[in-house]
Amino acid sequence: MRSKIVAGNWKMNKDLAETEVLLAELSAKLPDTKAEVMVAPTFVNLSAAVDKLKSSSIEVIAQNMHFAENGAYTGEISANMLLGIGVDTVIIGHSERRAYFGETDEILAKKVVAALAKNMRVMFCFGEELEDRKSGNHFKIVESQLKNALFSLDASAWSKIILAYEPVWAIGTGETASPEQAQEMHAFIRKTITNAYDTGIANNVSILYGGSVKPNNAVEIFSKPDVDGGLIGGASLVADDFIAIIKGIA
Ligand code: G3H
Repeated sequence: MRSKIVAGNWKMNKDLAETEVLLAELSAKLPDTKAEVMVAPTFVNLSAAVDKLKSSSIEVIAQNMHFAENGAYTGEISANMLLGIGVDTVIIGHSERRAYFGETDEILAKKVVAALAKNMRVMFCFGEELEDRKSGNHFKIVESQLKNALFSLDASAWSKIILAYEPVWAIGTGETASPEQAQEMHAFIRKTITNAYDTGIANNVSILYGGSVKPNNAVEIFSKPDVDGGLIGGASLVADDFIAIIKGIA
């Protein structure tokens, strides 16, 4: 059975003091939930977050990593560095990494392989841009993003993969995919994985939706059968909003 997951991607927000305040509030207010709850603070605050959450069920995850073991990659972070501080899940392929930092499908495929080689869990993000949706190419784009980064993996690797479908036009814009649009794409993603692998893998992978999920739309989006939770940006920075979204998981 696949897991329900609600993850907060804090992006480049919250300094150390703010991180500690938000984590304290989240720990104190965390409801009983069947969802796995995750937060992704910025790299410099990961250690402090792991420490702060050591007796909490909230998992600390990373927003990114490099594919190399180590070496002359100024400003980068390796899988071993994350593992060394107790972080073993990493977001790979966020649209902001693709758009602002030139991360191509080829680079992302290398990152996925590097993370899996260290037995990390990968939350792989993908999704179409507005023009793709308008021109009706959204299914084709999503299929190629999955194929290029993930479909060379062995079937056994999929137990470590979480997918996050994030239509770029819905990120930070206040515009959400309708629950029906999300369901339609998530069902398509499962069908695409079935074609590339099998139904078992397709049915066991958690597929999160991301893009302007808020307390007032979470319940409806999460109620769709192929939506297994959410990757939350802006609303994860406010404890009460993130908690309300977690409560939206049935
Ligand atoms: O990683 C999270 C997504 O980019 C969604 O961000 O909830 O601010 O639209 P948002």
